[in-house]
Amino acid sequence: MMSNHSIAGLALCATLLGTGLTSAFAADETLRSLADKNNIYIGAILNSQWFGGGLPGNYEQIHKTQFNIVVAENEMKFDATEPSENRFNYNNGDKMVKYAKQNGMRVRGHALAWHSQVPNWVNNYKNDKKKLLSVLKNHINNVVGHWKGQVDEWDVVNEAISNNEPQWRSYSVWYQGIGPEFIDSAFVWAHAADPNAELCYNDYNLEQGINPKAKAGFLLEQVKRWVANGIPIHCVGSQTHVEDTTTDKHFIGSPDSLRSLAKELAKLNVKLKITELDIGFKSGINVSKSDLERQGQTFRQYLDIILEEPNADTYLIWGVSDKWSWLGGLNRQKGLIYDDNLQPKPAFDSIMVRLQTYEPPKDTVATDTTKQDTSATDTTKKDTTSNDSTIAIKTIAGLSSLSMHLSDRTLFIAGATAAKVDVFDMQGRPVFSAKNVKGSVDLKIAEGLYVVRVRDGSKSLMQRVTIK
Ligand code: XIL
Repeated sequence: MMSNHSIAGLALCATLLGTGLTSAFAADETLRSLADKNNIYIGAILNSQWFGGGLPGNYEQIHKTQFNIVVAENEMKFDATEPSENRFNYNNGDKMVKYAKQNGMRVRGHALAWHSQVPNWVNNYKNDKKKLLSVLKNHINNVVGHWKGQVDEWDVVNEAISNNEPQWRSYSVWYQGIGPEFIDSAFVWAHAADPNAELCYNDYNLEQGINPKAKAGFLLEQVKRWVANGIPIHCVGSQTHVEDTTTDKHFIGSPDSLRSLAKELAKLNVKLKITELDIGFKSGINVSKSDLERQGQTFRQYLDIILEEPNADTYLIWGVSDKWSWLGGLNRQKGLIYDDNLQPKPAFDSIMVRLQTYEPPKDTVATDTTKQDTSATDTTKKDTTSNDSTIAIKTIAGLSSLSMHLSDRTLFIAGATAAKVDVFDMQGRPVFSAKNVKGSVDLKIAEGLYVVRVRDGSKSLMQRVTIK
């Protein structure tokens, strides 16, 4: 997945290494450049409002600078692409694919066989198995065929498992009219239409454990069967629409449970992708700064799975800004990483800092370039703080008019009129913050390794520091 973008990033790193600035971070680093560096995909949907041209200009600017993978919120679904029988509409999908190509982004296709957002004309055939089979096959042939070589991966089947007592979801025109074999067939047809596309099964509530009574446990048994039967399935997408645990006492999901699923899938040589992440709070409650910081930690914990598990490669968020999010319909709010004004939230910082500080285990660095080979790699957590304890802060000249210099615990800032200084630990947790800093500020923090971010208007600089 090395893009030109990441090659440019590597060239920059090489230059910095050449001058001995091993601990410095470029002022213009983005989630995207760091995702490239870490060999993962990080993305957000293009909201339906984007397709209608109704979003402010900085939305697109943020989207293309921060993300390297894209998916359409609604525009590649069945009702959008085949609104009437055998009449296909690719306009919006083409618009997104063009945008992705222009900006060097990977494209996800979402979704081929799903019980929801199916046009009414399909239901006319609900009692005609033969016809329904041909409708689904024709849809997949045309849609996947149209974007052959352009859409890199597809959600072939979405949400086919029921929530309670895991079993197949019964209220689906495909399940009712065809039976569960619609799933096997959909994968086979998608593979025939584009043999190079990665094909996923996508669902929600997969972070609730892998015992047979949980959805992921049921799914795992199906994946084993599909793999044993030669069904071309390459990935499981975990939607990961979750709620902040303190506002939903009954929520039983966890990043650890999702990690267990990733590890089980690795044994089958199947990837895990996080495909629709949002971490909402209940609607109506007052969300405090510390709530947002805790939310950031949960975002970071899910990111850790993608960074650390060799068969996990994608971290896709279901929206950019809280202002345009589907979560209201779920009675949730504020589940994304930019606020209503397109300003980055603490969750953005947690992700950013984690991407900056993550270092893959030494024995996987040389081999793990595609994240495909899932079985033999050591995934033991490493200590990210162990190697750099003597590295002092350095400034990158020329990349930003901002600069900083640390002397003991005093941080000197040049080029700022009233800076905001934030310090994070290596897990992305905020540990110190000061506003309106002119000249210098004393960092009241313990010994250790940190990331300091200085912001002044639109200028921003992040650097790793060692406090001794
Ligand atoms: C949602 C969209 O965000 C909404 O705009 C639309 O009204 C309904 O669908 N699981 C999925 C996504 O697979 O396609 C859904 O997207 C969210 C849940």
